[in-house]
Amino acid sequence: SRQPIVAIDGPAGAGKSTVARLVADRLGLMYLDTGAMYRAVTWHVLTQEIDPADEVAVAEALANCQIRLATEPATAPGEPGLTRVWVNEAEITQAIRTAEVTAQVSTIAAQPTVRKVLLKQQQEYGTQGGVVMEGRDIGTHVFPAAELKVFLTASVEERARRRQRDLLAQNQPPVSIEALEEAIDERDRKDSTRRVAPLQKAEDAIELLTDGLSIEEVVERIVALFEDRL
Ligand code: C5P
Repeated sequence: SRQPIVAIDGPAGAGKSTVARLVADRLGLMYLDTGAMYRAVTWHVLTQEIDPADEVAVAEALANCQIRLATEPATAPGEPGLTRVWVNEAEITQAIRTAEVTAQVSTIAAQPTVRKVLLKQQQEYGTQGGVVMEGRDIGTHVFPAAELKVFLTASVEERARRRQRDLLAQNQPPVSIEALEEAIDERDRKDSTRRVAPLQKAEDAIELLTDGLSIEEVVERIVALFEDRL
């Protein structure tokens, strides 16, 4: 029988990636960033100069888009390893994090063909279990039988503040809180209203509102929930 699966879903900028990586390290599980896969397809589409709204052209481009992800081991406790991403031969680890990719990814992720192809890859990755998988629809569609489902949220103000801090730490050009809130809201709106596998809390997911909690506190709570159940 398979090893446990932890599903971590939630809106943009709730801190899912950092938390999910740390939880995976703590529990000795693998980690899969499914958002990176949607970002990789988006990068590929934009690089080919295909209109992201052209579903037929996107589906064609998808056919020759080989995505590879590799998460490096933690560098120190509390310092999770980086997930490196490739499409075909090109390493796009940084390129999938640009504002341009971020602005278009929800358009690509709403397309049924894209979701069907990536869903299959994600399910294959989790066949043996033993993984913390992070995204929007893991608990609802990818692994509805996951042993633990967490829905991680934070107020939009808190998420915009965190994003602003991240940009600063990465020496990126400053963006106003208002502009960040607007971009986050817009992406959540698109992700929550699409027809296929919208962002939604699974009925049996545990909602964790992270306003005012440190990363360590959130990780502790999830590890405790896991240990309670298994
Ligand atoms: O998690 P991240 O913000 O990198 O995800 C980027 C985008 O990928 C999301 O805004 C959403 O449109 C899409 N996504 C999705 N389903 C997932 C993970 C991500 O639709 N499981």
